[in-house]
Amino acid sequence: MKPVIQDPIKSSTEYRLPRHVAIIMDGNGRWAQRRHLPRFAGHRAGVAKVRELVETCAESGIEVLTLFAFSSENWRRPVQEVSLLMDLLWTSLKKEIRKLHKNNIRVRFIGDRHAFASRITDHIDAAEALTAENTGLTLVVAVNYGGRWDILQSVRSLACAVSTGELDPEQVDVAEIESRLSLHDLPDPDLFIRTGGERRISNFLLWQLAYSELYFTDTLWPDFDQKAFRTALDDFAGRQRRFGMTGDQVETLRNA
Ligand code: IPE
Ligand code: IPE
Ligand code: MG
Repeated sequence: MKPVIQDPIKSSTEYRLPRHVAIIMDGNGRWAQRRHLPRFAGHRAGVAKVRELVETCAESGIEVLTLFAFSSENWRRPVQEVSLLMDLLWTSLKKEIRKLHKNNIRVRFIGDRHAFASRITDHIDAAEALTAENTGLTLVVAVNYGGRWDILQSVRSLACAVSTGELDPEQVDVAEIESRLSLHDLPDPDLFIRTGGERRISNFLLWQLAYSELYFTDTLWPDFDQKAFRTALDDFAGRQRRFGMTGDQVETLRNA
């Protein structure tokens, strides 16, 4: 495979590459509508961009890519769109999983699986099991995911642990909440990208995005190509992340 992200990332230690990129892939519907096509055509075009981006991330050394594919609120869409989206999701997974595995990509799903039929959860489990030992990019797909759901299920599990005496209420702390959240074993997203022009989080990774750099672009998802991704990475590389410290402190730490 031809490397698509070139020299600056690999050759320069100064170029700061995010370890974890989380993306809200928005704008498929509008992309199709502008072409007088059914919204579904936009979703299909969006899948092609996912394929491209996964390759780019895998080749560039990004460790984790989390993609918002279907939110817990997306069930509110017309039944036909929901059903087409689900079909597209599961057929794409079936079609791509061998290649992902061959490319050493570890695939994971986050979100509430209760909504899915067992033939779907079987697929998910099989994809995760097949790729579990892979050491390249970790690709996280968020389906029927909501940030509030994520926090809720962690809190519920904590409440159970307290009620059985496994945990004292005083032991409930940030680490205990975090250890029960989706992505608990992965670094928090360094860079959050939302395509499609909206400036909102839409119930994505509410807890995990606490200190992520936010990047919004008007580019619609099916138009979000490698160049557009590169622009986002460049923007990220130029930012100073302070985590509550002063800029001078951060510089001193960097130069130490
Ligand atoms: C994002 O594109 C894809 C999903 C939510 C599954 P949209 O379908 O939200 O596209 P717009 O926002 O209507 O253009
Ligand atoms: C967020 O996009 C969810 C996904 C991309 C999967 P939406 O298009 O559903 O977000 P809102 O409802 O406009 O905020
Ligand atoms: Mg949208």
